[in-house]
Amino acid sequence: MTMQKTKLTTLAIVISTLLGGVAGCNNDSNDKKDASQSTVKDDAYYKSLAEGMVAKMTADEKINMLIGPGYTTTPASNGTRTFGTDYSKIANVKKIVPGAAGYINGVYNETSGLDIPAAKLVDGPAGIRIYPTREGQEGLEPESGTYYATAFPTGTLLASTWNAELAKEVGEAAGNEAKEYGVDFWLAPGLNIQRNPLNGRNFEYYSEDPLISGVIAAAVVEGAQSEGIGATIKHFAANNSETNRRTVNAVVTPRALREIYLRGFEYAVEKSHPWALMTSYNSINGVNAGERTDLITNILRDEWGFKGFAMSDWWSGWDPVALVKAGTDVIQPGGAYRIFRGADWLTVLQDAYKNNQLSEDIINRDVVRTLTQVLKAPSGQNYPYSNNPDLNAHAQIAKQAAEEGMVLLKNDGSVLPVATSQKLASFGIGQINTFKGGTGSGDVHSPYIRNIYDGLAEKYAIDSEIGSFYQEFFNANKTASTDVFGVSEVISCPEPDVSVEQINAAALSSDVAVITISRNAGEGTDRTAAEGDYLLTATETALIDNVSTAFHAQSKKVVVILNIGGVIDTTAWKDKVDGILLAYQLGQEAGNAIADIIAGVVSPSGKLAQTFPASYEDVPSSATFPGVTESTYDNAGPVDPNVDTSITPKVADYNQYYNEDIYVGYRYYHTFNKGVAYPFGFGLSYTTFSFGNSAVSANTLSQGKTGSVTITTNVTNTGAVAGKEVAQVYVNAPEVKLKKPEIELKAFAKTDKLESGSAQQLTFNISAETLASFDEAHNQWIVEPGVYKVYVASSSDVSAVEPITFSVDKEIVVENTTPGALQLQPNFANKSFVTVSE
Ligand code: BGC
Repeated sequence: MTMQKTKLTTLAIVISTLLGGVAGCNNDSNDKKDASQSTVKDDAYYKSLAEGMVAKMTADEKINMLIGPGYTTTPASNGTRTFGTDYSKIANVKKIVPGAAGYINGVYNETSGLDIPAAKLVDGPAGIRIYPTREGQEGLEPESGTYYATAFPTGTLLASTWNAELAKEVGEAAGNEAKEYGVDFWLAPGLNIQRNPLNGRNFEYYSEDPLISGVIAAAVVEGAQSEGIGATIKHFAANNSETNRRTVNAVVTPRALREIYLRGFEYAVEKSHPWALMTSYNSINGVNAGERTDLITNILRDEWGFKGFAMSDWWSGWDPVALVKAGTDVIQPGGAYRIFRGADWLTVLQDAYKNNQLSEDIINRDVVRTLTQVLKAPSGQNYPYSNNPDLNAHAQIAKQAAEEGMVLLKNDGSVLPVATSQKLASFGIGQINTFKGGTGSGDVHSPYIRNIYDGLAEKYAIDSEIGSFYQEFFNANKTASTDVFGVSEVISCPEPDVSVEQINAAALSSDVAVITISRNAGEGTDRTAAEGDYLLTATETALIDNVSTAFHAQSKKVVVILNIGGVIDTTAWKDKVDGILLAYQLGQEAGNAIADIIAGVVSPSGKLAQTFPASYEDVPSSATFPGVTESTYDNAGPVDPNVDTSITPKVADYNQYYNEDIYVGYRYYHTFNKGVAYPFGFGLSYTTFSFGNSAVSANTLSQGKTGSVTITTNVTNTGAVAGKEVAQVYVNAPEVKLKKPEIELKAFAKTDKLESGSAQQLTFNISAETLASFDEAHNQWIVEPGVYKVYVASSSDVSAVEPITFSVDKEIVVENTTPGALQLQPNFANKSFVTVSE
């Protein structure tokens, strides 16, 4: 809140100094008068400014703001840009940002005096994705210099910190880079739920749990927006797989939508007031997310109070008029509907306006919402960006976040930390070809990637024969390609076979073995449950077997580092090794951060924000992921010259049945007593902690939203070294009308760094909204009467935790919601697709 006030004050000063010259008007006008009548320069101020401008805009100018300028599919002469924004079509762009994902058209009109600069949109979420160099880009003046951006840890790793303050710092640093590179809106954070481990984009997302997703997302938004740029929370909603992503229809109950898939968005909207939101490719219960008035207008705006603007994902939706009417204020990227050979959507919108299918009121409504935010952003403020953010300072934040997010899964015999006097033998191609993040729009062009080998080599003596073997193999066998969209460069290298003789020799001459296992995934494709993806390959298994046998024969230990974007199998091999460090994909500082953990410079404090199941088959959605083709049909619409006809215009009628309903992730494993490899919330440390004096210190719950339950606990560092601990509050709620998961995360907090023997009291406030469950039959959020058990714990395995309790006398109606919103298609209304229920 304080941050928000500071930001608005700064903006207020900027706009008052600049007023008249920039940010909308090139002459003295009524807009200036409107603005001067408003004393507080908040959203209401900008809204009134926007309304004044919209009143002067022509219909064409307004419609042009409903849709991006369009893409060109012409390959760039140097092969670097196969498709991208059609620069010739952006209205009133002051200066483009090469590599930006899109633009919102501006207006320049000497007659009306309007001079609204186009706004620039750049991906996320692991940093600011722009071209790092500007030589020879098609249609651009060559520019010298470099424009690298910091690659921060991927979303899952950031969430594993369970540290909202740190996530906010990451947001601030990324927001600052956006601002200094001339960007207005950052297409981040992504907070879809990790429904199934095989979603190709899980690395971009935070968790299987909506509370941690919402809290971390809100922190990132607050941080980024404190720099005066807009954050764009995405992809709204139920975008939980990549297969047939434009055509997939999520068949999911309104309750699961509300409690699992929308809840994080609701939290982020209410807490951090994002300036923008991106709708998703998929349909929900038969209608594209961006075309659903109930979702984009009734729920998002009327129920949650969203004040920003909604944009479509790139080429999502089926009907531009329906998108605009539902409340998707800007369609991106505009132009021809490239994939399915549709007509140019700008023309479709213009025609709809002329034919009275799209009213001026709707157009004005959407344009005002967009413009209100655009005027606040750097281009609207004529911010003189430097193209020179402090990348060194941001690298330190990236490193700290990476260090706090890594999860120590196993540490038998305290194999970690390893003293720097010890000699390491480091195996696995991932130590050289370390992945900083996944592929697709979530990639970042960072100035460097510190690989694991180099990070370790700075602190340790490393077996040079094994080191050279991997380096030489990598040099000889690496291949470079691009991801499916041609967006990011992917360096691949197979895992080499290391001979038993080499391994035996290393076991004699080294003290500890480290094996890096790595995986990459990305946008556009889901992962597979097969070997080489969810399962280890035969080569990787042999490596773990042979290294463990050789080192254990010498009474020496073996540690596995997992450089992965999402969950893989651990059951088949975890018992063979002594330590497992889940490093995820850590951004550009990967090797440095890992070396600090291995050496004990930092004690691990990350906790799993996703369950590692015992097997993929145990995942409750494994039978329904990623969906099923019901039928396939041709969609050979008119051939537009800008349309990529190489893409077969076959459209799948594709359903994904959310068969596990509300029992996603740990909600399922705990309710149905399924053993897991590593439970949600789990993570070891180099020290130990105890929780004491947990108590319910207040219960002010009453009808409506206002009340809450307050809980306190004391966390003591009972071990020998300093460290941080995450206290997690799980609630078991009474079942009156509604079945509930056995436990649900309702609050959490991370301690400061506690020295050995020191303690900290933590306080948690659980609001009525957070406590409530969704009663589909009555369209209400309710808190049911009865005794609530509260477990204050260090992971979701609460079996050894004595619960504390509080009671609710009678049912509390926390909120009435839009009747019938998001309801199932009639043919699924009996919910027979739900296979997991109590
Ligand atoms: C992705 C979005 C991204 C957009 C712009 C889409 O394909 O789904 O997450 O922001 O492209 O690059």
